[in-house]
Amino acid sequence: MTARHGWWLWRGGVFLAALAPLALWAWQVATHAAGPEPGRFLLLNTGLGALWMLLLTLSLTPLTRLTRWKGFTLIRRQLGLWTLAYACLHVLSYALFILGLDWALLGSELVKRPYIIVGMLALLGLMALGATSSHWAMRRLGKRWKPLHRLAYPILGLVLLHFFLVVRADLKEWVMYAVAAALIMATRLPPVARALPRVRRAVSRA
Ligand code: HEM
Repeated sequence: MTARHGWWLWRGGVFLAALAPLALWAWQVATHAAGPEPGRFLLLNTGLGALWMLLLTLSLTPLTRLTRWKGFTLIRRQLGLWTLAYACLHVLSYALFILGLDWALLGSELVKRPYIIVGMLALLGLMALGATSSHWAMRRLGKRWKPLHRLAYPILGLVLLHFFLVVRADLKEWVMYAVAAALIMATRLPPVARALPRVRRAVSRA
């Protein structure tokens, strides 16, 4: 097997792993194992799924610095697009099961639940990143591509704010995600980013 085949297998494996939760939730809904409110089950799971995908995507750069393994870089775009796909399914669940496609309801929802506006901003940001994720867009945007894709950081902030406003009565789960996000972001601080290759060298010497 050539290295090229190995990378295809790796990318294919990541694709199947990212698809698996969706297949599981669909199965649970189809077999009535998703509880009394399957629509809400899908809404909450796809929301959390999108957050997981975003955190995983943002972990890949520090992991590459730490290990120098090319495999992490090769799945960055794929996981970014999975974040967008989960977020779109989350919003679709909202439109279908909460709004019942009654768009007149949206106005009163926005006033009653400001976290929807925060979620919408995060989704718009994810769409901008998805639309500019191709090699063609990368070439077209040149030096502007990297600063544009740093939008992922404020998007993560918006998603955490959205989540916080949803669950503010019970913050235990939220705090876990916020700590994970803070750790991932801390690896981007210049002194920490510079230390990661040193950690790799120290570990490989040991
Ligand atoms: C138009 C955009 C969005 C809308 C309308 C929306 C709507 C909602 C609603 C209605 C809930 C459940 C509130 C409840 O418990 O009653 C929710 C929860 C959540 N959403 Fe969103 N959302 C949007 C965007 C996003 C995005 C972009 C993400 C992540 C990338 C996200 C992640 C979450 C998370 C993590 C939860 C909490 C799930 C839980 O409590 O287990 N949402 N959202």
